[in-house]
Amino acid sequence: MSKYQFAKSDIYLPGTDIPRNRLEIEEPDLLHEVEGTLLQQAYTRFISELDPSARFDESYFKALHRDTYESLYDWAGHYRTVDMSKSGSLFCRAAYLEQESRRIFHRLEQEQYLKQAASGTLEQFSERLAHYQSELIALHPFYELNGRITRLFFDLIAVCNGYEPIDYSQALVAGSSGLNAYVEASILCVQRADNNKLQQIILQGLRHTDGA
Ligand SMILES: Nc1ncnc2c1ncn2[C@@H]1O[C@H](COP(=O)(O)OP(=O)(O)OP(=O)(O)O)[C@@H](O)[C@H]1O
Ligand SMILES: [Mg+2]
Repeated sequence: MSKYQFAKSDIYLPGTDIPRNRLEIEEPDLLHEVEGTLLQQAYTRFISELDPSARFDESYFKALHRDTYESLYDWAGHYRTVDMSKSGSLFCRAAYLEQESRRIFHRLEQEQYLKQAASGTLEQFSERLAHYQSELIALHPFYELNGRITRLFFDLIAVCNGYEPIDYSQALVAGSSGLNAYVEASILCVQRADNNKLQQIILQGLRHTDGA
C-alpha cells in the first residue's frame, strides 16, 4: 500500500476534470501547455541521463511520473487508490494495482527490458513493445498522465537500444470518431486483448537512430 492516499476530491477541482495543481491553474489550455513543457524537459533530461545498464523497473517508471510532474501535482509518482474507467474500459482495480504492476515489471525484467527483442527485426521489437505497453495501458496506475508517461517509458527503452523516440504524432491526432488512433488501439488492448493496432502504430513510428 502506498504511503499517500488521495481521494478523487483531492485530485480534481470541484465539478471539473481539471486536476488541482501547485500553480493553481484553472484554465485547461494553459495547464495542458505547462504539462507539455514539463514533458519535453523530461525527455531531454531522461535521454541525457540514460546509461546502457539502465534498469527499466517499476521504481524507474514511477520516478518518471514523479520527476516529470512533481512541480505540478502532489500525487506525481503515486499510484491511484480508487478504481478508474474510461468509456467502457475498466482499468486494473486499485486493490490489485501493486501486485499486477509487480507482475508486469517482473516479466519485463525477465526479458532484460527488451534488449534482445530490440536487436531483432522491427516487427519483433514492436511486438514486444506493444505487449508491455498494452499491459501498462490496462494497468492505468496513475490518476492522470498515464498515456504520456507510458510512451516516455518505452521511448527510453527504444533510445537505450539505438532507436529514436517512437513517433506517435499521427496516432495522436483526433480522428472523425473524436478518438485518436492511439486511444482506439488502447480500447482494443483493454477490451479485446488485441494488441495488433497498437503494434502497427509502434511499428510505423519506430526508427533506428542511424535512420534505418
Ligand atoms: N476508453 C479507453 N479504453 C482503454 N484505454 C483508454 C481509453 N481511453 C484512454 N485510454 C488510455 O488511457 C490513456 C490516457 O490516460 P491519461 O489521461 O491518464 O493520460 P494522458 O497522458 O493524458 O494520455 P494521452 O496523452 O494519451 O491522452 C490513453 O493514452 C490510452 O492509452
Ligand atoms: Mg489525459
